[in-house]
Amino acid sequence: MGAPKKLFIKTFGCQMNVYDSERMQDALKAEGYENTDSADDADLILLNTCHIREKAAEKVYSDLGRFKPLKAKKPDLKIGVTGCVAQAEGEEIIRRQPMVDLVVGPQSYHNLPKMLEKTKTEGALVETDFPPEDKFDHLPKNTAAKRAPTAFLTVQEGCDKFCAFCVVPYTRGAEFSRPVAKIYTEAQELITRGVQDITLLGQNVNAFHGEYENGHMGLAALIHKLSDIDGLKRIRFTTSHPNDMDDALIDAYASCEALMPYLHLPVQSGSDKILKAMNRKHTADSYIKIIARIRETRPDIALSGDFIVGFPGETDQDFEDTMDLVRKVNYAQAFSFKYSERPGTPAADRKGQVPEDVKSDRLQRLQNLLGEQQAAFMQSMVGCEMDILFERKGRLENQLIGRNPYLQNVHVISRDIQIGDLRTVRITGAEPNSLAGTLL
Ligand code: SAH
Ligand code: SF4
Ligand code: F3S
Repeated sequence: MGAPKKLFIKTFGCQMNVYDSERMQDALKAEGYENTDSADDADLILLNTCHIREKAAEKVYSDLGRFKPLKAKKPDLKIGVTGCVAQAEGEEIIRRQPMVDLVVGPQSYHNLPKMLEKTKTEGALVETDFPPEDKFDHLPKNTAAKRAPTAFLTVQEGCDKFCAFCVVPYTRGAEFSRPVAKIYTEAQELITRGVQDITLLGQNVNAFHGEYENGHMGLAALIHKLSDIDGLKRIRFTTSHPNDMDDALIDAYASCEALMPYLHLPVQSGSDKILKAMNRKHTADSYIKIIARIRETRPDIALSGDFIVGFPGETDQDFEDTMDLVRKVNYAQAFSFKYSERPGTPAADRKGQVPEDVKSDRLQRLQNLLGEQQAAFMQSMVGCEMDILFERKGRLENQLIGRNPYLQNVHVISRDIQIGDLRTVRITGAEPNSLAGTLL
């Protein structure tokens, strides 16, 4: 055996891609690969891609172009495209960038090591199947190495909701929940490695219905079960759909101490006409009622959401309805986007596409309002005492950055804190995107 081979992996898109990248790293570690931060000295480059935005594929092609000189210098270098662009484009990637060795869709990562080996004799390979078996069963885990105090854990993948704008049902496939026993074991392993805060992931995480004993378990029951593991201090979950927000899950915000008071619940629009056209299957009012129940159960909850402006057919009034909904809900933070056409989705060919300048205008107004709400939420923390889990070093000397229960970043300067400490802090100041505090 020679020196370890080097893996450079670049991750785009959602947290699930972050999780998948970690798992691919684990799988490749077992094959003798070490991570590197520089593409220049890599033996294997993987782009783990996202297809949610317009021109995502074009960006991947231009990124790949930049690796061309590296491949010319080092003919043994392998280049792979994984993730949702790999799933959507498939063979097309190799046709347009013949230097690519591997195209692997999100459900086939367990085949990566085998495929890598094969490329040596068979040339470029594409794998975008949705195999019936669980890829997670075959991905070796990295059970020994110490790691950061926070981690993602995928419990559910895929989506059957088919919102009219969204590519995810096509790139990630049908909804699938992992069995509870496997999730539990993985959580235990993470905790052994120093994790204290786990975010359960799924494209529709609250539709989770994993096999358990002779039946199934929902997300609320899973959260309660995991919260019994010694050493697991904090649990979060993302992303949820309003229609799967059941009473048991709302109750968990009161009955499960480890469940943090934070919820990302995308609504997309405040106009019932647009929600219908989006195939969201909920109304603005039903969303607001869910929020009211959650607030009753957990008054201090930090709410987050996703919004799309300029969906085909959106009038000024429809947009004002979205602004009204935002005023009623009052978000702690949110993500908002201009509608962008995704080829192959039902909305892409619809009449009534909204002009770019109107979209930009609406987005600006929406983001101003959401920004004000976020600033007010941040400001409301000043003077409060709360527990911070410290995750990483800051830029200043002796500065550490951690999260509070509401998922906000908190900066503290102290010689007495280590990464992984959970300490009580008094919040002393608020910036647009972070808080400052002092140790109590
Ligand atoms: N449930 C998913 C949602 C993925 S997409 C999850 O696991 O996060 C994340 C957000 O991107 C969506 O909620 C939506 O607001 C936005 N989005 C998706 N498709 C879009 C499109 N075609 N144009 C603009 N925004 C879009
Ligand atoms: Fe996309 Fe809608 Fe499914 Fe979320 S619920 S992943 S927005 S189709
Ligand atoms: Fe992007 Fe795929 Fe996630 S399209 S948002 S990486 S599910």
